[in-house]
Formats: sequence, C-alpha cells, structure tokens
Amino acid sequence: MTCSASTTSDSTEAPAAEVVASNLDPLTETYGIPFYLQYLAHWPEYFIVAEAPGGELMGYIMGKAEGSVAREEWHGHVTALSVAPEFRRLGLAAKLMELLEEISERKGGFFVDLFVRVSNQVAVNMYKQLGYSVYRTVIEYYSASNGEPDEDAYDMRKALSRDTEKKSIIPLPHPVRPEDIE
Ligand SMILES: CC(C)(COP(=O)(O)OP(=O)(O)OC[C@H]1O[C@@H](n2cnc3c(N)ncnc32)[C@H](O)[C@@H]1OP(=O)(O)O)[C@@H](O)C(=O)NCCC(=O)NCCS
Repeated sequence: MTCSASTTSDSTEAPAAEVVASNLDPLTETYGIPFYLQYLAHWPEYFIVAEAPGGELMGYIMGKAEGSVAREEWHGHVTALSVAPEFRRLGLAAKLMELLEEISERKGGFFVDLFVRVSNQVAVNMYKQLGYSVYRTVIEYYSASNGEPDEDAYDMRKALSRDTEKKSIIPLPHPVRPEDIE
C-alpha cells in the first residue's frame, strides 16, 4: 500500500499479536488473539496494516464481508480502525477506509458499515467526512468489562455503486437493540 501521507509505508497482513500488543488507543476495541486469527483466516484481504519504514505500526483496519445477497444486504464491515497518535491527521485512516471500500466494491457489496461509540465525535465526524451517515442507533451496543451496559453505538453506512438507489442507507426511524441486529 502506498499511503496518502508523505511517509513511505508498506502494508502487510497484520501479525495479530502485533496489533494486540500495540493497543493503539483506548477507543480501539481490543479483542483476544483468537478473534484476530479468525479474521486473518477468513478475510485476510480485509486486514491491512500500515507500517513505518522502521517497522513501527502506524495504523490498521480489519473487516469482513457478510450479509445476504438475496436481501441486498451483502456488505463490507469495518470491525476495527485505529491510527497511532503520532501518525494522525496524515490521511491514513481515510486511506485505509478507501482500501476497505475498494475491496467491498470488488466483492459486489451493496454498502460498507461500521459501529462507533456515539461519544467518539472525532471518529463520527471523520466517517461523515468520508461519506458515511447514521443508519440507526443501537442502544447499549457497548458493554463495560463487568458486563454492564456502557454506551450506545451509531451504525453508520456508505452505499457502494451496486446500490444504485442508495436504499441501504435510508435511516431507520427508531433505535434498535443489539439483539435486533444480525
Ligand atoms: C479516528 C482515527 C482513526 C482517525 O485517524 P487519522 O489517520 O488521524 O484520520 P485522517 O488523517 O485520515 O483524517 C481524515 C479526516 O477525518 C477528520 N478528522 C480526523 N481526525 C480528526 C480530529 N482529531 N479532529 C477533527 N477532524 C478529524 C478530518 O476531516 C480529516 O481530514 P483532514 O485532515 O483533511 O481535515 C484516529 O483518530 C484514531 O485511531 N482514533 C482512536 C480509535 C478510533 O476512534 N477508531 C474509530 C473507532 S470506530
């Protein structure tokens, strides 16, 4: 990958341990190693890391393709996106999102979606800047480590070219609960 940032960087399939160890930001969900390995096994093309010339992890994105084609819900999903603080505002997240969207286009997805904490204004605004809009609010989507409800999520979407009428991004009129989403 050639990043849009002025730094020269490469992308490789992420060693899961490197991503976990980096834990770039508290706003980035950190999962167990098996979770990352599952993504690498099933959707390796959707796991992209940006490395600085010295091998330092600048940022990464991981995602997957899912949903019913028959119901026109086949789509790309962003599971995690994180950029290390020292490499922010260089256009790296925008580039990683662009790559994930290109992959989803090639797979014939109708849209790309993601979940983001409603309080994460920087990310919400960035996604809006990149063409995403709020499709629905998912009440208490995030839980605290003690299992208690923590925060609502916005489910944000961007239509891809296959969704010519942009039906996939028509916002739902009411919030949903986590058990209501697939
Ligand atoms: C959100 C995050 C991924 C953005 O990464 P980034 O590489 O700095 O983003 P980019 O440089 O590609 O920014 C793209 C656009 O988003 C907006 N943006 C990004 N960060 C911003 C900030 N701190 N303040 C205001 N706007 C911001 C801008 O419009 C920016 O374009 P511009 O620089 O031309 O104005 C990064 O801050 C991060 O890792 N945060 C913690 C983890 C997180 O919240 N992940 C998303 C969870 S779903």
